[in-house]
Amino acid sequence: MKVLEIQGGHELKGTIRISGAKNSSVALIPAAILAEDDVTICNVPEVTDTDALSEILEFLGAEVRRASESIVINPRPIENKEIPADLSKKLRASYYFMGSLLGKYKHVEMYFPGGCSIGSRPIDLHLKGFEALGATVEIENDKYVVTANELKGANIYLDFASVGATINIMLAAVKANGVTVIDNAAKEPEIVNVATFLNNMGAKITGAGTSRIKIIGVTKLKGCFHEVIPDRIEAGTYIIAGALMGNYLKIDNIIPEHLEALTSKLSEMKVELEIGDDYLIVNRPDKYKPVNIQTQVFPGFPTDLQQPFMVLTTKCSGKSVIEETIYENRFMHVPYLNKMGANIVISGNKAIIKGPTELMGTEVEATDLRAGASLVIAALMASGTTIIYNIEHILRGYENIVEKLNDVGAKIEIKEI
Ligand code: UD1
Repeated sequence: MKVLEIQGGHELKGTIRISGAKNSSVALIPAAILAEDDVTICNVPEVTDTDALSEILEFLGAEVRRASESIVINPRPIENKEIPADLSKKLRASYYFMGSLLGKYKHVEMYFPGGCSIGSRPIDLHLKGFEALGATVEIENDKYVVTANELKGANIYLDFASVGATINIMLAAVKANGVTVIDNAAKEPEIVNVATFLNNMGAKITGAGTSRIKIIGVTKLKGCFHEVIPDRIEAGTYIIAGALMGNYLKIDNIIPEHLEALTSKLSEMKVELEIGDDYLIVNRPDKYKPVNIQTQVFPGFPTDLQQPFMVLTTKCSGKSVIEETIYENRFMHVPYLNKMGANIVISGNKAIIKGPTELMGTEVEATDLRAGASLVIAALMASGTTIIYNIEHILRGYENIVEKLNDVGAKIEIKEI
């Protein structure tokens, strides 16, 4: 079994370069199926989630070549067959094969996706979208068969601005006959990145990044070259680490506009930030002001940074309240932070944090990806040594986390026990 061993209390100084966005890459890799020729995607992080998707592509018969940060996908040899449960359950984003296989072949058979256990995470909005485009959906136990004689453009209103449903409907609609309009679409930067990719392939998508996306169906999509945007959640995680332990820690290769919900909260807490065009320098202050946050869809405070951010609030002088509005079960890191010495009480979908408290190293468990990230941050500032179990969750989403942190002064290593 692999664990992370972290010796806390070391200042973070130097530069961390941010990788390509996991949540973009995991949509772009399945989307490559829609092209008729080779697709090159640059800046794809080497994390286990992107590996798992390449594995599904290869299972379907595609040729996938990795050359450092790029992936070249040849979708021509693909055979549209059932994606077995052991592959689809490796991660949440396997659901993007639904939209892309349906869009290309009008038929898909696969099992319910896996991913972090942070709530019930249904995919009803994805399926309603496919049905609106003319598909039928059959569900038997955990298996989904989605099929259509013809996909026809439609007006689709999403009851919730779901990231996954917005992207999946785009993937299914790019080659439909006629015009599709998605209203109350999600506005996350990853959606814009996927729409740009599809447009590079010859799709006609406008409005991505707003709540109304219009897709004019085309008959053919060609190969293309595309670059993944920087990972705003990875960046946010290291910025929070820098707010706690940073001595002029530079976070490089970011798009600052994607991080405004976080950086404005940090300024409110009196964390010193210098924000450049594509970088940010963060310094830890002597004292932190308590703040309240509520997770929201973009451009609101991202739920994916809620858990890492909570560690920071343990240092605030007074009471902070964090409200999670996107997922029902995203406080699984709290018992571990309390075990380390935090004072956090959960009341419904709110966590009430009283600080400042001193954290101490101990044995903790990463229950999901961002819970794991929060424990890494807690361990970096705790006194003594922390051992984190279940680190496979962390490795799903953070490229070279050990190297990146050690390079700026942390003492962290993966150990086999
Ligand atoms: C994506 C991200 C995830 C992030 C989340 C919200 C990927 C691979 N994952 O997840 O990191 O936390 O956006 O920013 O990009 N919902 C339904 N029915 C549906 C779809 C969603 O009820 O059909 C609910 C979910 O249960 C959840 C909320 O809507 O409570 C948000 O889900 P969604 O935006 O779809 O998130 P994901 O695409 O799963």
